Amino acid sequence: SIVCEFKPGLEGIPASQSSISYVDGQQGVLEYRGIPIEKLATHSTFLETSYLLIWGQLPTTAELAAFEQEIRYHRRIKYRIRDMMKCFPESGHPMDALQASAAALGLFYSRRALDNPEYIRAAVVRLVAKIPTMVAAFQMIRKGNDPIQPRDDLDYAANFLYMLNEREPDPLAAKAFDVSLTLHAEHTMNASTFSARVTASTLTDPYAVIASAVGTLGGPLHGGANEEVISMLEEIGSVGNVRAYVERCIQEKSKIMGFGHRVYKVKDPRAIILQDLAEQLFAKFGSDKYYDIALELERVVEEKFAHKGIYPNVDFYSGLVYRKIGIPTDLYTPVFAIARVAGWLAHWKEQLAENRIFRPTQVYMGNHDMPYIPIEER
Ligand code: CMC
Repeated sequence: SIVCEFKPGLEGIPASQSSISYVDGQQGVLEYRGIPIEKLATHSTFLETSYLLIWGQLPTTAELAAFEQEIRYHRRIKYRIRDMMKCFPESGHPMDALQASAAALGLFYSRRALDNPEYIRAAVVRLVAKIPTMVAAFQMIRKGNDPIQPRDDLDYAANFLYMLNEREPDPLAAKAFDVSLTLHAEHTMNASTFSARVTASTLTDPYAVIASAVGTLGGPLHGGANEEVISMLEEIGSVGNVRAYVERCIQEKSKIMGFGHRVYKVKDPRAIILQDLAEQLFAKFGSDKYYDIALELERVVEEKFAHKGIYPNVDFYSGLVYRKIGIPTDLYTPVFAIARVAGWLAHWKEQLAENRIFRPTQVYMGNHDMPYIPIEER
């Protein structure tokens, strides 16, 4: 057996071979199937990018039309799922509602025909199609309303915003949302993707794979950071308070949300695109005072932390984009999940293709041969 040095957080240890995405953290490069993220953000759509990630190449016109049509057809959710969601407490976090609903999807579809390409395709379509509907449904239900049915004449991004607000979105808002989904669709071996692959490796059903990934994405060190960024900007309150806030974080050794990354040691390329999207939205719909605070924060953090390679990550500007298009703060992480489901499904398929169950080792630090002390003597 091979004895390796223990690395907390498995830093630097490859957990699988993959040809889905690539990150160069020194140069600030992100590619999906070899295509730079900037090209996809400019020329592609979220559904086309999902196809690329999951099936390995860009679709032809006919393939894309067929995929979009299938997604449209499968957007609705069963009334039992809606009714189940109506029993969730409205004070519950939408990520918990999403995790439970994603797992519940598995109740409706036959299990584990994992060697059947049609089963795989149907699961991909259902998950990509239904996750946004479930996020929007919980939002409506917790406001005391019935969920809004998807609208077949709207594309993927516009339909989600419509189901969320009961209003057709402005085309720029829908476009910005679609680009943001593209940017969040995949990101190599992060915690939730690793979790998806571990679950996939047991050959359980894909709904369980996505449910475990959703559970992992929710934490504040991962997808949950985008919500924390907005609370932080609220707490800072004004441009004048930024420096003192940063000083306090340094003193208390607390993390500044939306900064730092295990892999990127420069500004995250997705943050650059999201910042540009935010600026386009501000130009059309009016500015946001939190943007000025964010800019000042980026300046001060760079001054203090550039030597450690700590720069804005994807979560720093995404919240400002979502705020401007009317997405409530506690839906930022579910919206991240809507996008990342594409990457998780690509990893599910890749894991199945060359599966070996994950079974790492541990370094045992406990005692041996201890006495059993009777309860009355403890
Ligand atoms: N603010 C202040 N200091 C930081 C930060 C930060 N945001 N991030 C890292 N550092 C410091 C850290 O204190 C440590 O310093 P030292 O070497 O002096 O002890 C050094 O940089 C290395 O940090 P680490 O925590 O060992 O790095 P990691 O690779 O384990 O953690 C991270 C990466 C993203 C969890 C971390 O940077 C962090 O907690 N950031 C804030 C939360 C956040 O924005 N998360 C979103 C991540 S990107 C999208 C996603 O994954 O969902």
